Amino acid sequence: MASDTLSITDNRTGKKYEVPIAEGTIKATDLRQIKTDAGDFGLMTYDPAFMNTAACRSAITFIDGDKGILEYRGYPIEQLAEKSTYLETAYLLLRGSLPSKDDLARWKNDVTYHTFINENLKGLLDAFRYNAHPMGKLISTVAALGTFYPEAKNITDPEVRARQVTRIVAKMITIAAFAYRHMVGQRYAYPDNDLSYAANFLNMVFKTTETKYKPNPAMERALDVLFILHADHEQNCSTSAMRAVGSSHVDPYSAVAAAAAALYGPLHGGANEEVIRMLTEIGSVKNVPAFIGRVKSGEGVRLMGFGHRVYKNYDPRAKIIKKVAYEVFEVTGKSPLLDIALELERIALEDEYFVKRKLYPNVDFYSGLIYQAMKFPMDMFPVLFAIPRVSGWLSQWEEMLQDPDQKIARPRQIFVGAARRDYTPIDKRP
Ligand code: CMC
Repeated sequence: MASDTLSITDNRTGKKYEVPIAEGTIKATDLRQIKTDAGDFGLMTYDPAFMNTAACRSAITFIDGDKGILEYRGYPIEQLAEKSTYLETAYLLLRGSLPSKDDLARWKNDVTYHTFINENLKGLLDAFRYNAHPMGKLISTVAALGTFYPEAKNITDPEVRARQVTRIVAKMITIAAFAYRHMVGQRYAYPDNDLSYAANFLNMVFKTTETKYKPNPAMERALDVLFILHADHEQNCSTSAMRAVGSSHVDPYSAVAAAAAALYGPLHGGANEEVIRMLTEIGSVKNVPAFIGRVKSGEGVRLMGFGHRVYKNYDPRAKIIKKVAYEVFEVTGKSPLLDIALELERIALEDEYFVKRKLYPNVDFYSGLIYQAMKFPMDMFPVLFAIPRVSGWLSQWEEMLQDPDQKIARPRQIFVGAARRDYTPIDKRP
């Protein structure tokens, strides 16, 4: 008779155990009963990088890496990218369902009217060196922002939480744009509440002498689609940071700053920048075969923007982004690096090395080209990733706080250091 249990025999003791299986998972704590004697701590699992450990139950984002599926709250990413807006998608992630007309209007209004930041924060930004990386400025400013809202510490009150969520989503574009203006030495441009979320960001980044900034509609839509595609990606490194830090019940600004710090790393939010560096280094279509040869030779060169830990068929976001890239290039003119990218993709998709290893273009392969065509410097790429990802981080934070299974994150370790020894006075040490 089939049973939803796992039978375990501990060959050290000969004892047998039955452990329940639910949702394709056993509880790691169920292994603690497996002991060699009463003094034994009990069996643990060893799983660095959480390669095979579910740290939560989540109803937000579903990914099937083998089939190339990505869904937010059940809605396929392709449909959201085509029909939704970033603010509507953020509402969906945060609240669990698509908003009614009135709800959406209220949410848009709330976000729009919270885009201004306290003037003191400009002093904080001004303290940075002229060439400071905008991610450093973003991380620090989000953390500092929390000090303006002491009520944010009250994370058990759903209304207080909701207010901070609105503030953070709204103010991200202002902080990101101010970080950019500081970098290029231009005076800060303030939010314009007549504009959409994406257009307002473009306004604060690019406005110069005009009294009213009017974004190109194709660029505004392209940026909005990129925001939708980057809004959440279940338990990745920065989201895990958000959950782990938030599990200490710190205010959400501090937890978002920690998540943004995780995103800053080149293995996470920095790959699109690496794609541009790679394409620039290749320099010309005629050099593509030689570069592919270097990748295959095993000398440690990777085709940046290819491959994914989860997607082994294709990254559904990459397909959408490629289409967006063409729409943007119609406005900006074709990127000189596009032909190199297309040739790399063409050869790689036919080449046995890449086919065998299931290496396909990922979200970063074309996003850097789009950002570059929009005239964003490379240092801004992770900032552009962080802006929409806050809606994912905050949805996951909210879910974590309401989950009765969750406690402060506190992994175990296997201690491999020195056994107990007595302190030696300095003159007796070898
Ligand atoms: N170019 C060439 N070979 C590759 C690449 C690549 N981009 N990616 C993986 N491989 C090879 C790798 O050498 C290994 O070959 P072998 O079996 O002969 O040793 C095999 O494919 C499996 O690689 P892996 O490192 O075990 O795969 P992983 O799942 O641990 O790594 C990855 C996933 C994304 C880190 C990796 O594919 C990579 O470094 N890609 C380039 C960087 C990149 O584009 N990162 C952005 C990821 S998408 C952003 C996001 O979703 O947040």
